[in-house]
Amino acid sequence: MNEIGLTRYLMMLRKEAKWGTSYFERHDLNPEYWNKILGPIKDNPNQWEGKKALDFGTGMGRNVTNLLSLANWKTIYAVDISDKNINLCSQTFPEKAQFRLVGGKDLKIFKDDSFDFVVSTLVLKHLACYSLRLILLQEIYRVMKPGALFTFDMGAGQDLEERAYPNHWFCLMRTGGLAMPSQLSVAKYHEDKYDALGSNGECDVRVIDISDFFYPSVLNLKWLIFEIPMKVSKER
Ligand SMILES: C[S@@+](CC[C@H](N)C(=O)[O-])C[C@H]1O[C@@H](n2cnc3c(N)ncnc32)[C@H](O)[C@@H]1O
Repeated sequence: MNEIGLTRYLMMLRKEAKWGTSYFERHDLNPEYWNKILGPIKDNPNQWEGKKALDFGTGMGRNVTNLLSLANWKTIYAVDISDKNINLCSQTFPEKAQFRLVGGKDLKIFKDDSFDFVVSTLVLKHLACYSLRLILLQEIYRVMKPGALFTFDMGAGQDLEERAYPNHWFCLMRTGGLAMPSQLSVAKYHEDKYDALGSNGECDVRVIDISDFFYPSVLNLKWLIFEIPMKVSKER
């Protein structure tokens, strides 16, 4: 890992985060979201009664809204690097949902084995630095209780066309720059694109080989792969 590169990438993320995000309500229309990402909750709400959940990279709390509608949780924590998002959500959600600002490369505000369920949508697939994703996955794994479940999504495909990026003459980055769509690259799963222009379509990560997801030497995870999106459970 290149520390200077990672710092540069995190600076870009934080600069972007100042703008906050939208609610991304159109992603609620995706049946895969309800069947796979939130499927374990939807199918068995009683299992989650009084349990603790974490939404990693919450944005405007879309997952929190949907988790609250599906089960009677004890608490749902939601974290983001955007203080704008965190401040807005803190004012509008019920007390059961707790929003916390994080620095972008750790979850040190939480103890080990804290959560029964972790969800993260539209976050990891946009982070073009494998080193950062690996650190974040290790942190997520650390805060999961034994037997906890983590569901998340990643993108799949080979090239720019498959990213369905709008066919504009240029794109205005949330970081302030302008770029032609042809300049927007796609990161391979193990690549570190420290100079990515943004993290919301500007340089998405593409899973081409499903074996990319195995980290046997690092995490000893039991992966339950449902194509994409995926579920991971922490071994007891
Ligand atoms: C595209 S939005 C998705 C929001 C939400 N998960 C959803 O599905 O509606 C990505 C969010 O992840 C946050 N994010 C990006 N990198 C992060 C990091 N390293 N740590 C925490 N949050 C991060 C961004 O600030 C942004 O709010």
